[in-house]
Amino acid sequence: MTKVAILGFGTVGSGVAEVLSKNSQGIARRSGGEIQVKYILDVRDFPDSPFKDCFVKDFSIIENDPEVDVVVETIGGAKVALEFTTRALKAGKSVVSSNKELVANHGYELLQLAKANGVSYLFEASVGGGIPILRPLTNCLAANEVEQITGILNGTTNYILTRMIKAGLTFEQALKEAQDNGYAEKDPTADVDGHDACRKICILSALACGQHVYPQQVPTQGIREVTLADVAYADSCGYKIKLLGRCLREPEGKVCAFVAPHLVSCENPLAGVEDVFNAIAVTGNAVGDVMFYGRGAGKLPTASAVVADVIDIARDPKRDRGNQWGPGSEDLVISSDGLT
Ligand code: HSE
Repeated sequence: MTKVAILGFGTVGSGVAEVLSKNSQGIARRSGGEIQVKYILDVRDFPDSPFKDCFVKDFSIIENDPEVDVVVETIGGAKVALEFTTRALKAGKSVVSSNKELVANHGYELLQLAKANGVSYLFEASVGGGIPILRPLTNCLAANEVEQITGILNGTTNYILTRMIKAGLTFEQALKEAQDNGYAEKDPTADVDGHDACRKICILSALACGQHVYPQQVPTQGIREVTLADVAYADSCGYKIKLLGRCLREPEGKVCAFVAPHLVSCENPLAGVEDVFNAIAVTGNAVGDVMFYGRGAGKLPTASAVVADVIDIARDPKRDRGNQWGPGSEDLVISSDGLT
């Protein structure tokens, strides 16, 4: 039996509880034992929730309960989430996270902390939502030197660009539609200015290149300045405008990472990725080109990736990615040569 505490009962946290409950039998079979939610930490009350008996408001209850094996962090942000993740790892509990901001900024130190305490820190859901990408990159593609990664990593901006192309909406109209549909936040800065995609390419770059890449090292341009005229002109020439996060390995071992709107030829499969979908193309020096596609956000797709990490830990509590992610370096050359 593996006992889990979920931090935050928002979209992802509630999805994790739902998936663990509705797929409990199959998950138990695939994990080698039952996985049970023991606590849910949230400041709000949920009296009608089927999990109402699990709610607590004090993290120290979770931290001090030796029965809790895995803490699922779905709080978001890099402040409280960092404190609770650090305390959980020090208390000998594995942590699973969907929090790209935390992983992009503190991934190396948290992996080291997990290793020092003999537990795991896993974060498959932090990139690509429900798309399996980190585990394939670090396991199935482990034989390769990764030459490049190119991804549509943000569903909100892909939705906006798709609506501009297909419905002739201006950026402002498409953003409002994305907000009305619940895709974009009231404050859409992290998505439309490229910060969310930047955090995700940092995580992919770190795992592919073996050293921490900090968001502030990566030149980042969002889509605010893309006009309807740009989109229409690109379309007339056989191109789509897509916000891409890219990581290129240059021959001398330099890493070039950046986020920017790109012209993508309609012959490139990335041009056909529409609405809130994400896609990530990886080129390895043995496998060649492979591509991952699916729902990059949303309650159940993201929960799918989070729960898979919990299952991995239930099978092997010391799953470790620390040896694939080294410290950051001020000497790391992050160039913006590829910006278009
Ligand atoms: N805001 C993100 C997106 C959510 O639009 O892709 C998933 O990380």
